[in-house]
Amino acid sequence: MNITFCCAHTQADPWLAGFHMALPHAHVSEWQPGAPQADVAVVWQPSQQFIDEQPGLKAMFNIGAGVDALLRLRLPAAMKIVRLDDAGMAVQMAEYVCHAVIRHFREFDLYEADVAKHQWVQRKPLVRGEFPVGVLGLGVLGERVARALRQFDFPVHGWSRSPRSVEGVTCHAGQEGLPNFLSSCRVLVNLLPLTPETRDILNRETLSRLQPGGYVINVARGAHLVEEDLLALLGSGHLAGATLDVFRTEPLPADHPFWSHPKITITPHTSARTLREESIAQIAAKILAFERGEAVVGMVDPARGY
Ligand SMILES: NC(=O)c1ccc[n+]([C@@H]2O[C@H](COP(=O)([O-])OP(=O)(O)OC[C@H]3O[C@@H](n4cnc5c(N)ncnc54)[C@H](OP(=O)(O)O)[C@@H]3O)[C@@H](O)[C@H]2O)c1
Repeated sequence: MNITFCCAHTQADPWLAGFHMALPHAHVSEWQPGAPQADVAVVWQPSQQFIDEQPGLKAMFNIGAGVDALLRLRLPAAMKIVRLDDAGMAVQMAEYVCHAVIRHFREFDLYEADVAKHQWVQRKPLVRGEFPVGVLGLGVLGERVARALRQFDFPVHGWSRSPRSVEGVTCHAGQEGLPNFLSSCRVLVNLLPLTPETRDILNRETLSRLQPGGYVINVARGAHLVEEDLLALLGSGHLAGATLDVFRTEPLPADHPFWSHPKITITPHTSARTLREESIAQIAAKILAFERGEAVVGMVDPARGY
């Protein structure tokens, strides 16, 4: 089996060494323009040139959970796309989101500001029941996040395309379930895939439905959020703040208002990183299953968009 590796922003050598170890029978090399046809590819944000020069690929294994960049390309109709599922990302996402929710709920920003002024101020504890958290997307990452939030006794709601059941989580589904889901929440966590249906889903209309003093945590994709609408709702006071890990333009432009907005906390797309060893082990297992003609977990449905 010939495996070609074509991953943007990724140092190839340690990945190639890992795949050599995990799949000793395979020939693994980094793709270069004009390279011979491979059987399968390991990819992250490959170029259209790569796709056009490798028409005989039987499958592409994405080294991330989101396949939005891949599905924007012109792909052969029969191309199989396999996403990474979890591979160490879910626990990172749970850490990140719980940290953001707790930091907001426990007012740690205000305490930090007091401490900086050498002020000993004890605030009245807020009521946990008044901070229901909603998780948009109850997939591999969203479900883990919802379960983690339940461990801290927050009321948790979840929203998915098809009906789901997660213990302790009030589940809502479909477009018809969205208004009720949003009005049930004060803190909103976005863990949807970016698809034509979900692009711009965090907008003035949807965010206005959150309970007053709403808080937005976007850890999915920047294009889910209409940035001007967030700024307007922070300005009006309907929203209390936001933690954002992903942006419409990345890296975030130097003059972007999010950098210095007092109610916005940003991080540089780091909430759940691809972990190399876990990912190599998972993709190698998927490639072996694919070679044997067995079902492969994490098969993407291009028509659905995720
Ligand atoms: N910031 C980071 O570092 C980072 C890292 C990894 C991933 N991500 C992002 O996180 C996203 C989610 O990852 P995942 O592994 O949890 O994805 P996943 O397993 O595919 O789950 C997606 C969830 O979203 C729901 N959904 C999709 N389209 C919907 C729609 N139109 N209406 C309602 N619900 C919809 C799905 O509903 P069903 O359950 O009905 O299918 C499912 O529950 C990725 O696509 C990626 O963009 C970000």
